[in-house]
Amino acid sequence: MTGPRIVVVGSANVDLTVISEWLPSRGETVMADQLVRAGGGKGANQAVAAARAGAEAAFVGRVGDDDFGRGILRDLAREGINTERTIVDEQTHTGVALIMVDKKGENIIGIARGANGRLRPTDVDAAHDVIETADMLLLQLEIPLDTVMAAIGTARAAGVRVLLNPAPAPSTGAPRELTGGADYLTPNSVEAVQLLRAEGGEEPEALAGRLVESGAGAVILTLGAAGACICDGEECYRVRAPQVAAVDSTGAGDCFSGVLAVALSEGMELPDAARFAACAAALCVQVPGAQPSMPRRTAIEQLFEQHEPH
Ligand code: RIB
Repeated sequence: MTGPRIVVVGSANVDLTVISEWLPSRGETVMADQLVRAGGGKGANQAVAAARAGAEAAFVGRVGDDDFGRGILRDLAREGINTERTIVDEQTHTGVALIMVDKKGENIIGIARGANGRLRPTDVDAAHDVIETADMLLLQLEIPLDTVMAAIGTARAAGVRVLLNPAPAPSTGAPRELTGGADYLTPNSVEAVQLLRAEGGEEPEALAGRLVESGAGAVILTLGAAGACICDGEECYRVRAPQVAAVDSTGAGDCFSGVLAVALSEGMELPDAARFAACAAALCVQVPGAQPSMPRRTAIEQLFEQHEPH
């Protein structure tokens, strides 16, 4: 049996992660002993998460014509991900993320987006056949917004469902065409507030409900260790996540979105699919680095079977 076809249009980075006791404040230097260099970028992370969860995944993106870019293409191919529509851009460098993680697993991230910032609507046009034949299109917001909109347009015209992970969220709020183009929207609480330009302090149910009103088909608002709050236009409810000791939360949101796309494409109902994705994210936070921490299907299934839904 082959898995669902998931196409990701998005970013790819090399992540350089320093793991330290605490995160530095402005002007402070923190000494650390642990460095992790690994594949990252929300788009590539989601493609790896989907592939390890059983999808036939394809990645549409841009990398630089440098060692980092070549390494990314090699790593994605090793995961069985189709990179035929990933462009090697000779004009700029591969995206790089500088990350610091503290002993609670919390992080801060700075990104030089390089080639990711040059992914164009014409690149989406060139990948139209891959998008049109997919079971689901997976998007994030580390690439230009007009490219995201072009991908949404191509998918919707072909009747392909769209899962948008609106990260990082634009601080100026989200245009209705963006949220309205998503069958599934997976913000975290901070992103939900930014998308709505809300004041903060609202309950997750209120935020998710307002995002559904702004056009999204269903909103799965991720709550980290507390699971997720889901509003689908008819009702709002919560799903729980297994409680685990986190060492690095980097990529956990990507893991959730990638695995959710697989579960939904396989026909799982949304509450179970979200719980399945939450189990995957719980495994992800127990391993340092973004792509190295994406769990395999069997591990997700085992935790899903052990984990009580209520
Ligand atoms: O979501 C985590 C990712 O954000 C990291 O891998 C980093 O590259 C940034 O894109």
